[in-house]
Amino acid sequence: MRNSKIDIDRETIPNHIAIIMDGNGRWAKKRGLSRSMGHREGSKNLRKIVEACYNMGVRYLTVYAFSTENWARPKAEVDELMRLLLDYLRNAEKELKGKDVRIRVIGEKYPLSKEIVNEIERVENATKNRKTLDFIIALNYGGRQEIVNAVSRILEDAKEGKLIEVNESEISRRLYTSEIPDPDLLIRTSGEMRVSNFLIWQISYSEFYFSDVLWPDFSEKHLKEAILTYQSRQRRFGGI
Ligand code: FPP
Repeated sequence: MRNSKIDIDRETIPNHIAIIMDGNGRWAKKRGLSRSMGHREGSKNLRKIVEACYNMGVRYLTVYAFSTENWARPKAEVDELMRLLLDYLRNAEKELKGKDVRIRVIGEKYPLSKEIVNEIERVENATKNRKTLDFIIALNYGGRQEIVNAVSRILEDAKEGKLIEVNESEISRRLYTSEIPDPDLLIRTSGEMRVSNFLIWQISYSEFYFSDVLWPDFSEKHLKEAILTYQSRQRRFGGI
């Protein structure tokens, strides 16, 4: 069934959308504002995109909120990002307005503050039985580190005699995303065409969509354009 106005096929909405929310800094600079203001607008926009995904029937949404490399940014900017995250987690139930959304956080908990770790645990636990949308926040996340961790766990299991063969599924089930299907569509905003260490194992067969729009301006209309492009492509998974 096609929506007459925007022509999205509701039957083939991507099951899992992953987003690299890029361009907050440039959005702020263009307006003579601080980078922190850009992140604030970016986090407001994220709320709208979560809602849009929920309404469209996307089952999993994963966003890149903070990479293991982002610690290298000025302290004031890192502090602001952590504050926005803590704020979101603290108010998650109110933010979601009773929607059936499960919140999960992937990435290394160390060296996040105790306050943030406690909130992550609280929100994950409070929403764990919800099943309409899984909203996954990648926080202090690095794809290479994720694979290194999985391989270390494989080594430990092998030493203890719990593993006799290494294969793709043994690696997949030791990633942060073990019970989450791979993304169907990866979106990056702001015109940059890189993957930046995001879900590098999981996006092997994902469709990529790059938008020139800066993240704070990336609206539901732009999301629908990305989905439309995805739906016009034919995924072959290595076949013909
Ligand atoms: C990239 O833009 C964006 C980030 C590093 C942070 C993204 C985080 C948010 C949108 C807030 C997340 C909040 C919640 C509630 C999960 P950039 O700063 O690299 O932009 P630039 O390339 O234009 O400088």
